[in-house]
Amino acid sequence: MAEACKCAPGSAPGRPENILVTGGAGFIGSHTCVALLSTGYSVVIADNFSNSSPSALDAVRRITGRDLVFYETDVTDASAVRRIFSENRIDGVIHFAGYKAVGESVEKPLSYYRNNLLSTIVLAGACVEHGVPRFVFSSSATVYGDNKPPFVESMPLLPAANPYGETKAVCEKILADTVRSCSGFSASLLRYFNPVGAHESGLLGEAPNGIPNNLMPYITRVAKGELKELSIFGNDYDTPDGTGVRDYIHVMDLAEGHIAALRNAPCGLSVYNLGTGKGTSVLQLVTAFERATGVSVPRRIAARRPGDIAVCYADAGKAERELGWKTHRTIEDMCRDSWRFEKNRCV
Ligand code: WQD
Repeated sequence: MAEACKCAPGSAPGRPENILVTGGAGFIGSHTCVALLSTGYSVVIADNFSNSSPSALDAVRRITGRDLVFYETDVTDASAVRRIFSENRIDGVIHFAGYKAVGESVEKPLSYYRNNLLSTIVLAGACVEHGVPRFVFSSSATVYGDNKPPFVESMPLLPAANPYGETKAVCEKILADTVRSCSGFSASLLRYFNPVGAHESGLLGEAPNGIPNNLMPYITRVAKGELKELSIFGNDYDTPDGTGVRDYIHVMDLAEGHIAALRNAPCGLSVYNLGTGKGTSVLQLVTAFERATGVSVPRRIAARRPGDIAVCYADAGKAERELGWKTHRTIEDMCRDSWRFEKNRCV
């Protein structure tokens, strides 16, 4: 017996569509809020600042000249989420809030499973309860595991190399089963590759709390002199220069991909890679950064990081065919925009 649903996917007659963005103060979430507000949506943000800060919300308001509704909330808290849905007319949800550091997930698997799975269960349940028809999920290329790149959406998912990727794969299954059981609930699973870069204003960018886990924010902090040198995790992979290869995508291209999914994804379940379709090695990215900014990045070769894979890049054709979306910003744009934000960022 399918779970009762209160409404089919609908539109917001006579008013801007109102989107709940969880993790909207985070790196990808805040840039997506800029894209949403700049294209006429209204936005409700829920964030607990576990890996973000209130300054990102000020930057979103400043860049767009528009206000937003904000709840400082842990979205694993069902009663807090229920309050958001009862106090706001929500037309769709984009769920970013989640732990996302590959290396950290190897050290703390239980906190990753609890946070990433429970938040998705709570939010999907609230959507079904309130008849919210569209759910866009921040998934990850790490769900492809040991498949051979370029990764295609139709590939069978293999065990991820780390608990982070496994949490994303399980969340995808939770949402797929919810779509099957509830005709009024549609979910788009967006598998990100490696988001980097910053808004061109320099007011918004990647500012993780503490020492960055990810490559680009680590590079910019070394370039700024805040950190001594970049450790390159392994140069003995089966890649052109031995260092890890990833599909780096500009965060504003990624943000625009979410608008395309909200607008053009079909009802029911849909899955899309959001990537450029091109692979770039660690050394290539460091060299591109130095060339684009004129700033040198001291580095050394270190041991491989547990949980890392050698090569990861997308087959990006399906999103282009079905959503009418593809990336257009370059690696140089990503480096320049990241550096501009880092120079503006007050510690
Ligand atoms: C990239 C490359 C490292 C840091 C990310 C996100 C994850 C998910 C997938 C979206 C690897 C190397 C890194 C450093 C290094 N994104 N590296 N020195 O691990 O691919 O995962 O994309 O869902 O949320 O974490 O990204 O930036 O950590 O690493 O040499 O100090 O850079 O080995 O080859 P990763 P990353």
